[in-house]
Amino acid sequence: MSPTVEEVKALFRPKLKPLEWDSKNKVLILLDQSRLPFEKVFEPNRSPEEVAESIRLMKVRGAPAIGISAGYGMVLALTSSKPESLDSAIRTLSRAKEVLDKARPTAVNLSWATSRMLNRAKELVESGRVRKVGELMEELEAEANRIYDEELESEIRMGLYGLEKIESGDSVLTQCNAGGLATGTGLGTALAPVKLAKLLGYDVQVYAPETRPWLQGARLTVYELMEEGVPVTLITDTAVGLVMYQGRVDSVMVGADRILADGHVFNKIGTFKEAVIAKELRIPFYALAPSSTFDLRSRVEDIIIEERSPDEVRTVRGVPIVPQNVRVYNPVFDVTPPKYVTAIITEKGVIYPPYERNVRRVIAGER
Ligand code: MRU
Repeated sequence: MSPTVEEVKALFRPKLKPLEWDSKNKVLILLDQSRLPFEKVFEPNRSPEEVAESIRLMKVRGAPAIGISAGYGMVLALTSSKPESLDSAIRTLSRAKEVLDKARPTAVNLSWATSRMLNRAKELVESGRVRKVGELMEELEAEANRIYDEELESEIRMGLYGLEKIESGDSVLTQCNAGGLATGTGLGTALAPVKLAKLLGYDVQVYAPETRPWLQGARLTVYELMEEGVPVTLITDTAVGLVMYQGRVDSVMVGADRILADGHVFNKIGTFKEAVIAKELRIPFYALAPSSTFDLRSRVEDIIIEERSPDEVRTVRGVPIVPQNVRVYNPVFDVTPPKYVTAIITEKGVIYPPYERNVRRVIAGER
C-alpha cells in the first residue's frame, strides 16, 4: 500500500537544500548550481535584481526553483528599497516583477509566481487588510513561504501518483535535472517517484543523459541521486536511442517548464527525441509537473524557446573544443507534441489523452 503525504513528509529527509529563506535577515540563500558538483557555494541574494541575475546565470535553475526564488525576490523588492507608502510599494513590486520576468523566458513558473505575489499585494492593499508597508511585507513573506510549501506538497503528491507507474526492478530514463535542485525543495518532480520508490525499498535505477551543453544530467542529476543513494548510470545524450532499443528502460520520466492546455510539453532540449523514440519502442513517456507549470492561455507558437550563448556549445566547462567563432545555434528547450506523451502527472492527478479536454478538467477544475 502506498504511504500518505504525511508519512512521506515524515520519512523523506532531503540531503540537499539548494534554496533557503533567511527570515531574520531577509536574505535568500541560493546554492550556486553552476559550480556543482565540485564546489558547494551558497550565495546571499538581497534584492530582486540579484535574484534575477542568479536566475539568468542559472545559479538557481529548474522551473519550480526559479518560481520560488522569484516569489522571494518580490519580498526582497520591499526589504531592499523600503518604500514609504503602500502606493509606492505596489509600484516597487510591479517594477520588480518586470525585472524578474525578464530573467529567463521559457519556464512559466517564473511569471506565475511574480503575478501571484503582485496580485496578493494589490488585493491586500485594495481591501484595506494591510495599512502599513511593514504589514504588507510580512504578508508577502508568508505568501512566498506558501509557494514553497505548496511546491513540496505537490511534489510528494505527484511522486505518489508517479510511484504507481513504477515496479521494483525498473529503470527510468530522465532528461536534464528535474530533481530537488530544480525545484528548491530537495525532492523534485520527475525524480520524485524514483526517490519515493527507493525510500520504500524498491529496486530502481535511473539513466541520466549528460544534457549538453550545460550538463544538468551529468553535473546535477548524477550528484543528486548519488547523494540520495539512488543507483544512477550516466549516458551521453547520443546514447539515448540505443539504451532504449536495448530494452534497458521501462519508462521515461521528465519534468517540464511549461505545459499547454492541448498537452504540448516544453522541457529541456533533448526531451522531444526521447519521447519520439519511446513511442516508437512502446515505452511509456511521462511528464511530471505541478499545476504552476501549466499555461492554459498560450498557443505553442507564442512560447519563446530560450537561446543561450554560443560559447556554452563551443566550450566544455570553459575549455574550447571547436574552431573559434564557429556559427552555433543553441536552443535550450524543446517542445514535445501531445501525441508522444503517455500521461502528464501532476499533484491533482494523472492526466491522460485527449489532453485538449482533460488538461483543463484536471488543472482548472472545468467540466
Ligand atoms: O535550463 P534549466 O536547467 O533551468 O532547465 C530545467 C529543465 O528543463 C527541467 O526539466 C524543468 O525545469 C523541470 S524542473 C523540475
